[in-house]
Amino acid sequence: LPLNGKKVMVTAGPTYEAIDPVRFIGNHSSGKMGFALADELAKLGADVTLIAGPTAQKSNAYVKRIDVVSAEEMLNACTSIFSETDITVMCAAVADYRPKIIASQKIKKQESALVLELEKTVDILATLGKNKRESQILVGFALETNDEENYAKGKLEKKNLDLVVLNSLNDQGAGFKADTNKITIFNKALERTLFELKSKTEVAKDICTAILKIIK
Ligand code: C5P
Repeated sequence: LPLNGKKVMVTAGPTYEAIDPVRFIGNHSSGKMGFALADELAKLGADVTLIAGPTAQKSNAYVKRIDVVSAEEMLNACTSIFSETDITVMCAAVADYRPKIIASQKIKKQESALVLELEKTVDILATLGKNKRESQILVGFALETNDEENYAKGKLEKKNLDLVVLNSLNDQGAGFKADTNKITIFNKALERTLFELKSKTEVAKDICTAILKIIK
């Protein structure tokens, strides 16, 4: 199989950032795309570790799974294995901000408005991009609502990626919760490949094909 002996890391799902013991800030990521990718990469022979945020998805027995909750936990899980991985695909919808202070007790309802101060989380993908060796392949995702191609290309360069997979929320049937997705892939040469609307399993196969093309 083409990926025999390759160590692959995939992130999937959302992250939850605690506000207090019962509340969190999250997002609508279902984890479907990342789980489908982990599956397809394993079918190609890779030794896959899936780092998953909170999701209802079931992973297959031949995928090693590490469950995490917050962006910080995902960062720690990713950085602990990144140096040993040949291919990394960052599909997770990681929170960009988290509450600066996590209340130790449930915050009580009050008369006035509640103000939460948020601080930035670490950009995991950019962190890995900085530490990437020449032989490693790093793939990121971009989900945009406007000027999407330029933002996607910007991410490819800024985060030192080999491929960026763009999915636009402007496309019907694409995005977070759907079983289908419509993607555009940019490679390092900024060459663009457009794909039709497909099931996330078929999309995962297309992404694998693009990865196989650039394997060094
Ligand atoms: O910059 P933006 O968040 O749009 O980039 C999306 C890409 O970066 C995705 O591949 C996502 O998994 C990754 N990301 C990350 N850590 C963050 C934010 C995004 O790994 N804190």
